[in-house]
Amino acid sequence: MNQQLENTAIDYLQTLKQLGVQKIEVSAETLQALKARGKNSGSSKLAANGEVPRRAANREVVPPAPQESARPLNLGSAEKVAALEKLAAEINANTGYRAMFKYARQMVFGVGSADAKIMFVGEAPGADEDEQGEPFVGRAGQLLTKMIQAMGLQRGDVYIGNIVKYRPDMPPGSSGNRKPTLEEITISRPYICEQIRIIQPKVLVALGNTAVEGLFKTGSAGITQRRGNWTEFQGVPLMPTYHPAYLLRNPVNSEKRKVWEDLLKVMEKAGLAISDKQRNFFLTK
Ligand code: URA
Repeated sequence: MNQQLENTAIDYLQTLKQLGVQKIEVSAETLQALKARGKNSGSSKLAANGEVPRRAANREVVPPAPQESARPLNLGSAEKVAALEKLAAEINANTGYRAMFKYARQMVFGVGSADAKIMFVGEAPGADEDEQGEPFVGRAGQLLTKMIQAMGLQRGDVYIGNIVKYRPDMPPGSSGNRKPTLEEITISRPYICEQIRIIQPKVLVALGNTAVEGLFKTGSAGITQRRGNWTEFQGVPLMPTYHPAYLLRNPVNSEKRKVWEDLLKVMEKAGLAISDKQRNFFLTK
C-alpha cells in the first residue's frame, strides 16, 4: 500500500469510528495482508482489532472514496465542469461502492450548473431518480422544482445533488424508498464534499435530516430545531430546511411557509433580488 492510499484508508476508518461504526467487513485476503503488515511493521494493532463477521469472506471490499478536503479549489467554469466529470467517472469506476447497491440501475451524480450560486443537497435517489439518473425528479423532486421556480430560478440555474449516489436497496419485490444506512452515508460522504469543493456555491441548502446528518457527521440532526438557522459547511453558508418529502407528508401552509422563509434567507444570502410578491407570498395565505 502506498503512503497516500494508506493515509486515506486510515482517515476513512477514523471517520467510520467517529460515526459509531464498530465493525467493517473485509475479505479474508485483506485480513491476511493486514496481519502480515502488522507483523512486518512490529505492530499488530489493525489486525488485532479486525473483527470479521462470518459473511465477510465473500464480500467485495469497498475501496476508500477520495479524501475530503475543505480547501476550496477556486476553479473557472470549464475547470469545474471537467472536475465534476472526472469525479463522476471516479465514482462510476468505484466497483466496491457500486456493489453496496445491488439493485440500483445507475449512479445519480448530480444535476445543474457547475457555476451555481445555490446548491441543494438531498438524501439519496429514490425509484424515479434511479430510473432517470437525475436527482429529485419524483414527487418530492417536482415540489423542489416548484420551490426553485418560486425563487425565480430554473433547475439549470442551481446545482442539485445527494449525499448517497445510488438508490439504497429495498428488499426485492418491495416498493418505496428507504433512508440510507450510516455505512452508506459514511462511504458516500467524501463525494458530496468534493462536489461542494468543486462548485463552491455561495449558499448550500441541506434538505432534511439525512442531508444535515451526512454533511456534519452528526447522529441526529434535529431538523426542526436547526432549520432556518444559518450554519457553515466547508466555509460555505448552509441553510438547513425541511425535505420536500416532508412537505408532501404534511401539506399544510404553516410548514410550507417555514421552508419558504428559509428560502427567502437563501435568496438574500445569494444576492438574488426578492420581489414584494415573493416576500409576501404566505402573508396572503
Ligand atoms: N429525495 C432525495 O433526497 N433525493 C432525491 O434525489 C430524490 C428524493
